[in-house]
Amino acid sequence: MEVRKAVIPAAGWGTRFLPVTRAYPKELLPLINKPLIQYAVEEAINSGIKEIIIVIAEGKYSIPDYFKPAPELRALLRARGENKLADTLERLDNQNDIKYVTQPERLGLGNAVLMAQKAVGDEPFAVILPDDVVDAREPVIAQMLKIFKTYGTSVVGVECIDTEEIHRYGVIRPETVSPRVHKVLALVEKPAPEVAPSHLGIVGRYILTPQIFPAIEATQPGSGGEIQLTDAAALLLQSQPIYALEFAGQRFDTGNPQGWLEAQIAMGLKHPEFGDSLREKLRRMI
Ligand code: UTP
Repeated sequence: MEVRKAVIPAAGWGTRFLPVTRAYPKELLPLINKPLIQYAVEEAINSGIKEIIIVIAEGKYSIPDYFKPAPELRALLRARGENKLADTLERLDNQNDIKYVTQPERLGLGNAVLMAQKAVGDEPFAVILPDDVVDAREPVIAQMLKIFKTYGTSVVGVECIDTEEIHRYGVIRPETVSPRVHKVLALVEKPAPEVAPSHLGIVGRYILTPQIFPAIEATQPGSGGEIQLTDAAALLLQSQPIYALEFAGQRFDTGNPQGWLEAQIAMGLKHPEFGDSLREKLRRMI
């Protein structure tokens, strides 16, 4: 079955980015000059996804505002001869239809995904966490869709995580089936390093079958008192196989200031206009 829809959860508090997130959604923080969530939307579109569902919460209406078409601004730019910028805005204005659903209480990522159930319906779908930005030649969701096509079941994106960081991740027990592809034998949310079943942690990319929804409903609050998507996936694993892909690409956890800064520098250094001069300036700084 084709994967046509992607859910982008963007309702969280963003506490790791306080104080800016008191008034500003972290999903709109810029990476160079594009908001983080724009990278997620582009990844979905470039992977062939037709419909995007963004989960928002009270106080985060600047996210739909950002995606609203801006014909007047475009006309102004054209009148000033700034056609390149106007073209960029036009591309944004024409991007796929975006739907919004609200998460009334921020009960965790699993709960945020559950809010999209009606909009998703009875079909497999992608989940993209906008604070995990991946610089990849082939969009990560496109890479994962290939695995979904092969096995016809849920796929999680994983990465090799350092021992000291492993307690922050959902970790899989893998049975490797081909290079970088693993059958998931077990899933543990935020394990202590000594009990972690591997170094492969789930990062913010999923292709899920709709059976995840009843699994989320049956999931009790776990780590941090939140309804965790990994716990729901562990429940789903009891009735359906799940695969994991070590995708190709460099991931940045832009949900915290250090990861966000690293992403700015890495992407800045690759920037066609100012990458070289940034490199030179950084060299002089250190
Ligand atoms: P995070 O745990 O990174 O986001 O969730 P957070 O809770 O906003 O951040 P911290 O930990 O307080 O700093 C990953 C994604 O899931 C969304 C977030 O908006 C983020 O994009 N999320 C999280 C929800 O939509 N709802 C929730 O209840 C929790």
